[in-house]
Amino acid sequence: MPRLTGLISASLALPVAALAQSVTFAKDVAPILRAKCQECHQPGSIAPMSLVTYEDARKYARRIKARVAARVMPPWHIDRTVGIQEFKNDRSLSDAEIATIVRWVDEGAPAGNLSDLPPAPTFPDPNRWQYADQFGPPDLVIRSKPYDLAARTQDKWFRPVSETGLTEARWVRAIEIRPVKPEHRKVVHHVLTLLEQQEAEGITGLAHEAHGVQRTAGLFMEWAVGKVGEIFAADAGKLMLPGSKIRWEVHLHAIGEAMEGVEVDLGIYFYPKGVVPQRRTVLRMFDVSRGSELDIPPNQVAMTQNFYVMQAPARLENFQPHMHMRGKAMTMEAIYPDGRKELLSAVNNFQWNWHVNYVYAEHAAPLLPRGTVLAFTAWHDNTAANPNNPDPNQWVGWGDRTVDEMAHVWIDVTYLNQAEFDRLVAERKARR
Ligand code: HEC
Repeated sequence: MPRLTGLISASLALPVAALAQSVTFAKDVAPILRAKCQECHQPGSIAPMSLVTYEDARKYARRIKARVAARVMPPWHIDRTVGIQEFKNDRSLSDAEIATIVRWVDEGAPAGNLSDLPPAPTFPDPNRWQYADQFGPPDLVIRSKPYDLAARTQDKWFRPVSETGLTEARWVRAIEIRPVKPEHRKVVHHVLTLLEQQEAEGITGLAHEAHGVQRTAGLFMEWAVGKVGEIFAADAGKLMLPGSKIRWEVHLHAIGEAMEGVEVDLGIYFYPKGVVPQRRTVLRMFDVSRGSELDIPPNQVAMTQNFYVMQAPARLENFQPHMHMRGKAMTMEAIYPDGRKELLSAVNNFQWNWHVNYVYAEHAAPLLPRGTVLAFTAWHDNTAANPNNPDPNQWVGWGDRTVDEMAHVWIDVTYLNQAEFDRLVAERKARR
């Protein structure tokens, strides 16, 4: 970040006269915290401390500088210099915002004229359904079963099954997952939900994947710390059939405090009855570890790759890499049938406790012709230079625990027929 460094040293060299216009909390910093931090850093939300008042922010000034300068906070760890940069949920700071915060801390975190501050915002309750503003309350809420987690124990994987109770087919436009009690967010590391239902051949439009009758429609949604849920593109949705069931996988991580009756809710928002979206979206897991073949020697950075050929034209709606403590970076490239290669997305600052889902803006979501090769590359940093590495002298292989490794990507794929694909490509060309 040469530009940023320049700004920092320039701020240190400020002549005394320039201090008159120095950055202050009231004028410069509070608006940034409000827009980019307080959603999580407010009393009762998911972050460990509030950053609402001047006193809060001043107390944490050094740590704020360290986290924002390293682009660890706010959690948005995508490489901003390559690939698609238009997302629906971008919460990153601009270089200028980072420079403002850094300079404010370097100048002693002055308050400025606090009476200039706009009135404190009233925050929406972090424990309400977040998509309710948009869609009204969820149409269907499905709860997992209670699980008692000891204060100290290995990571646990809890896999109960819940009936959906549906008696007719419904199209889903948004899904949200949340631990029922706010305090349980500290131990629920991630949640997978699988939709089990009797699929007739052809109904999925995925003839290449559905051989005969298939029992599961596969993954319904994946949730991990830092994620709210998923809203599907305006022309797409997921299909739930009568008699369907949800199979859960709740990954729990003990924190030294016993937690009783940990439960998770799945909130489902349907399209109105009779509204059938044009396309069906399926959540796919692209395995980068080649069927759990990871081999990560001590004190080394290891690279793993895997390749998939798209059997039908498709639009990719998002990019969400999954690795653990040694996870460092992951890229997704498209090799088109004409041989052209394009880097679609790269996460270069992966943080294992933040499984950020990067959701493409509709007009920027990759459109892949049939026959495109998707190439995924993952890097694990098992050296002492990785601050998240608990022990660089261990050999690490594939496994469920956070001290073992994984490498895969979750992507909502909307499969298209050739005519739809051609139409979407033509629309894109017309936009430019
Ligand atoms: C999506 C929610 C979210 C947003 C947005 C967010 N944070 Fe955080 N922040 C957290 C959580 C949760 C933690 C604790 C876990 C961790 O450290 O990753 C945290 C940790 C931190 C810490 C470290 C606290 C410590 O104990 O050392 C700092 C500093 C911080 N955040 C600052 C910020 C700033 C500044 C912003 C905005 C520019 C911001 N965060 C935006 C959720 C968030």
